[in-house]
Amino acid sequence: MKTTAYIGTSLDGFIARKDGEIDWLTQFENQEINQSYTEFINEIDAIVIGRGTFEKVLTFPTWFYQQKVFVLSTQIKEIPNNLKEKVTLLSMEPKELLHYLSNEGYSNIYVDGGKVIQSFLKENLLNELIITRVPVLIGKGIPLFGPLYKDLSFKHIQTKVYSNGLVKSHYERI
Ligand SMILES: NC(=O)c1ccc[n+]([C@@H]2O[C@H](COP(=O)([O-])OP(=O)(O)OC[C@H]3O[C@@H](n4cnc5c(N)ncnc54)[C@H](OP(=O)(O)O)[C@@H]3O)[C@@H](O)[C@H]2O)c1
Repeated sequence: MKTTAYIGTSLDGFIARKDGEIDWLTQFENQEINQSYTEFINEIDAIVIGRGTFEKVLTFPTWFYQQKVFVLSTQIKEIPNNLKEKVTLLSMEPKELLHYLSNEGYSNIYVDGGKVIQSFLKENLLNELIITRVPVLIGKGIPLFGPLYKDLSFKHIQTKVYSNGLVKSHYERI
């Protein structure tokens, strides 16, 4: 089972403003960046997101995930009718969730959302981090990282610098 977080952050380590806005990030989107994301997500067989990310994705004009999406939430009671075949609602701890997904036949999982990524890291259950830093400080917001029980070491695989200043670094858990 491979688990990867692929996420964009501000230079000061935030993934969204406090209100969830990601305008500071999307202004850097271009064909090259989108292609890199497409190459990544094409290898993925299931996506795990938290309620916060799900609520944000629901504001986009269209549902863009091709793969099955598992939404972690204790508060959402029902998935909108038009998404019932694409989205499964779950409330599980990371370890239990990975057992569940493995039993369902999934082996390459994309984990997204600040709190969800933090909960996976706390349990040392993320194998790869692909972090794209945007050259903007936003001062405050939703942080990518949080407290850990112990240090986690990663091996640097590669860093790509895009012409618009974005820096994408790929790390693998040692
Ligand atoms: N920069 C980027 O590339 C990027 C990527 C993804 C998301 N975002 C942004 O990040 C924001 C959302 O991040 P977030 O940190 O607020 O939320 P999140 O991680 O997407 O969702 C957190 C919620 O998921 C639920 N949850 C259920 N099980 C959980 C578990 N095991 N671990 C953690 N959470 C669990 C909880 O909801 P309940 O209260 O319902 O139980 C929790 O409040 C959005 O604004 C989105 O736009 C940015």
